[in-house]
Amino acid sequence: MTTTANPVYVALDTPDVKTALAIAKAVAPHVGGLKVGLEFTMANGPEGIKAIVALGKPVFLDVKLHDIPTTVAGAVKALVGLGVSIINVHTAGGQAMMRAAKDAAGDKAKIIGVTVLTSLDDSDMDLIGYAEGATMQALRLAHLARASGLDGVVCGATDLTGVRAACGPDFLTVVPGSRPLGADVNDQKRFMTPDAARKAGADILILGRPVTAAADPAAAARAVAASLGL
Ligand code: C5P
Repeated sequence: MTTTANPVYVALDTPDVKTALAIAKAVAPHVGGLKVGLEFTMANGPEGIKAIVALGKPVFLDVKLHDIPTTVAGAVKALVGLGVSIINVHTAGGQAMMRAAKDAAGDKAKIIGVTVLTSLDDSDMDLIGYAEGATMQALRLAHLARASGLDGVVCGATDLTGVRAACGPDFLTVVPGSRPLGADVNDQKRFMTPDAARKAGADILILGRPVTAAADPAAAARAVAASLGL
């Protein structure tokens, strides 16, 4: 199960299993799922991921795979065995890579595509060589992800309206980097409040530091849920 009544997934961005488990247990009553990313995965590997899955919440494995199709398919096959609900790949890996990831997952996990990182804005895109800007590029890649059979995309809150219009109501939209009013924006550049992102059509909201770096992560998660009327 990936979409729950509570759309909030907390990003457990720490290399330490004990810290991740403590935060996960504290926030569990107030969130719909948990996200494990590269920082945690590189430090703790499959055993660490299994420890998070064992808590019983849906787990989004945010490892942003990007390689040739055969390599990505092999990685996905290994990862679905860990019991995670969602795995992501970079849409910039192309159609064949996305199809290979989806085939390898079967019905064991959803595969979603990263469009444009929410830490990038138009001037960053220009430097990379994408002249169209972040929103247009995200839209193009979301469309390609849908055409390649993926279940959804990771996109910025500001890309949601276009992604929904291009990809339809059943395409899973996962939005990281939303910020409660008054919270530190950190390195995020294209963000909204959780409530605004939800109203703009996000199915899943990923929150990291506004919850995990709070003095009381459980209270912070509860406040986010309350801001969504939950
Ligand atoms: O701490 P913060 O709320 O900014 O955490 C956002 C999380 O979402 C991080 O784990 C980051 O890796 C992830 N993410 C992102 N932008 C994307 C995809 C994932 O910020 N496009």
